Amino acid sequence: MATESRKTEHIRIALEKDVSSRVSAGFEDVDLIHNAVCEIDLNDVDTSVTVMGKRLRLPLVIEALTGGTREAKRINMGLAEVAETEGIGIGVGSVRAAMENPSLTDTYSVVRDRAPKTLVLSNIGAVQVAKHGSEYALKTMEIVGADALAVHFNKLQELVMPEGETCFKDVGKHVAELSARLGERLCLKETGAGFSGEAARLAESWGVKWVDVAGVGGTSWYAVEYYRSKGSGSKASLLGKSLWDWGVPTAVSIVESKMFTRSLRVIASGGVRTGFDAAKAIALGASCTGMAMPFLVSFSKGGVEEARRLVKSFEIALRFTMFLVGARTIEELGSAPLIVRGRTAEWLEQRGLLEKLLNGRRSL
Ligand SMILES: Cc1cc2nc3c(=O)[nH]c(=O)nc-3n(C[C@H](O)[C@H](O)[C@H](O)COP(=O)(O)O)c2cc1C
Repeated sequence: MATESRKTEHIRIALEKDVSSRVSAGFEDVDLIHNAVCEIDLNDVDTSVTVMGKRLRLPLVIEALTGGTREAKRINMGLAEVAETEGIGIGVGSVRAAMENPSLTDTYSVVRDRAPKTLVLSNIGAVQVAKHGSEYALKTMEIVGADALAVHFNKLQELVMPEGETCFKDVGKHVAELSARLGERLCLKETGAGFSGEAARLAESWGVKWVDVAGVGGTSWYAVEYYRSKGSGSKASLLGKSLWDWGVPTAVSIVESKMFTRSLRVIASGGVRTGFDAAKAIALGASCTGMAMPFLVSFSKGGVEEARRLVKSFEIALRFTMFLVGARTIEELGSAPLIVRGRTAEWLEQRGLLEKLLNGRRSL
């Protein structure tokens, strides 16, 4: 019951309050280079990718949002229809509510019902995995009928939410078991504070093949919890807005996750808002991208049709950028030349990563 009412509040606050990060994801610091002359036919531009073993028409996932309430079921149902028809992936929100109360199962499994073919990700918190082990996490996949599992690491949110749990000890052992069982079908994700290179390297040492960086620059979970618990002598009321923008900005997080690891694959989320952002994320090293808040907002405004329009505008922006850059495939876009400026360049320089990123990327 507590988990259910929390989910309702999260959606309400996300839609009613401004919970965006005040720090940018960093995509405005990245320029892709226009190629006026290269021989390319727009009809040959191929945006498809394979993510966690499933072929997607576009490098896009509807990020984990919700589940566990009647309203959540309606949202999941509508977005699943969009994912299936548009050939993009979809994640459900944390399945903990259905683990605690099996009568809520349909609020999650409706996604598989409406999206029988495309990539569907289950979702559970790392704290729950640390506490209950890998079998518990695998059970959430059964409940959803999911192809893959996202384990979310949300230290900042757990710190500040009133009912937060903060013991992440031993989680690595359970994640390693999950990696051995699921291989490519496991992903570790943040929820808006991003992965540093060190975090990505540790994930890879546990056998993890995919991370969803969910960096700073989009929805701030600190902000959501701030509005939820403000005024009740809570931790957020003591801290004010000081941790609102804590974490690693998304553009930086993509590069750190790639450069600190051997072959970790990255889903870029956290402030990805358009196909142009996605093109830059892919050029920085991501294999796929994800959006949460834009899908929630568009669905709540105009249902399935509006969410579909969001995908269409994403697609056209990505496709046009690939054409202008001269990249026929997502793989080619991944090695497109680029310029990095401003705060993002400064960060990467101080971490010793800028030269390495630009090396060999000065022309296609
Ligand atoms: C209302 C709402 C609920 C969310 N619930 C979850 C969740 O249950 N599990 C999870 O891993 N992430 C959750 N997230 C985080 C998103 O999946 C995503 O990582 C984050 O919002 C950054 O993406 P954005 O900037 O596109 O919103 C939620 C986000 C929102 C806005």
